[in-house]
Amino acid sequence: MRPSKPAVRSAEQLLLPNNVDLTRQKEFAMTSMFRRRFLAVAACFAFAAHCANVDIMSKARAQEGPSTPPELPSMAGQTVLVLGGTGRTGAQVVELLLAQGVKVRSTSRNAAKAKAAQPNAEWVDVDFRQIESVKGLTKGVDKVVFATGANSFREPDNTPSLVEFEAPAAIIDEAKANGVKQIVLITSVSTTAADPAATKGFPGVMRYKLDLENHLKASGVPYTIVRPVGLVNDPRGKDAIALLPGDVQVPAMISRGDVALVIVDALANPDAIGKSFTAFNVIHPDKTGWKSQFAHLPADK
Ligand SMILES: NC(=O)c1ccc[n+]([C@@H]2O[C@H](COP(=O)([O-])OP(=O)(O)OC[C@H]3O[C@@H](n4cnc5c(N)ncnc54)[C@H](OP(=O)(O)O)[C@@H]3O)[C@@H](O)[C@H]2O)c1
Repeated sequence: MRPSKPAVRSAEQLLLPNNVDLTRQKEFAMTSMFRRRFLAVAACFAFAAHCANVDIMSKARAQEGPSTPPELPSMAGQTVLVLGGTGRTGAQVVELLLAQGVKVRSTSRNAAKAKAAQPNAEWVDVDFRQIESVKGLTKGVDKVVFATGANSFREPDNTPSLVEFEAPAAIIDEAKANGVKQIVLITSVSTTAADPAATKGFPGVMRYKLDLENHLKASGVPYTIVRPVGLVNDPRGKDAIALLPGDVQVPAMISRGDVALVIVDALANPDAIGKSFTAFNVIHPDKTGWKSQFAHLPADK
């Protein structure tokens, strides 16, 4: 014999377990009301976070523009100075420029070691803590890339005021005097949120990065400021790239190789001049559409 179906329960029975006395029923009702309110509040928070993300991503998509990359003039034969060409981003900038027939002058605190690793570039011994060592670097140079970083959490004696601001600012001043045509500077997302009073640790680094951005903007040398989100070492070109005007806290990462691609493209593209933007990786089938974004980014005010 088939078991009979359980009797249909009333709405009250559906909400309340059987054999519960009235006090327990009230407690149960209070608990479930609290639980429902809690779930409603949690759902609101989740929805707000989702909307913020959708808003950021739709702005990024709006920046993508037509997906055909613009034809850029060849940089072959130009000389580019890459400060920090031994770094994890800088080394990829050097490699990409050399592949285009660009003459690269680069710097390291250990030029002999750098030369052994990348013999096709000219290497100069430079330590930003010794301001004399930066003199004469921009002579005969068409364009400059800053890919240096103090990393003072790893190297506590790598004074951020000197490495992130004073020495690079002196190089910018000399670049202006030598008629350099463009400077591309990597700083970071969150520079504009930096505490101007901070001099130590991560906030201190951000403060000097912001000071350098402002120094470059005021110098009159044509510039591009790339503010990457958190950097990772994934291979370049694996994911698509998005560029957003200004300094935007995007919940994303970007590979150092992709930052290098953005820098090298910016050096050849007049549409990148006078612009500061946030760069990050996105999941998108069009891996090169970002190249047309420079034209859509507004110039800095
Ligand atoms: N880590 C992140 O998530 C993150 C996020 C956003 C932005 N950023 C910024 O992105 C940039 C590139 O970062 P990265 O990780 O690719 O750099 P990295 O691998 O740490 O390389 C740092 C470079 O700076 C040079 N350098 C360090 N101290 C110096 C000094 N006293 N004088 C002269 N050169 C010096 C190093 O050269 P030698 O050692 O050969 O001298 C090296 O080439 C940095 O400005 C960093 O702050 C990082």
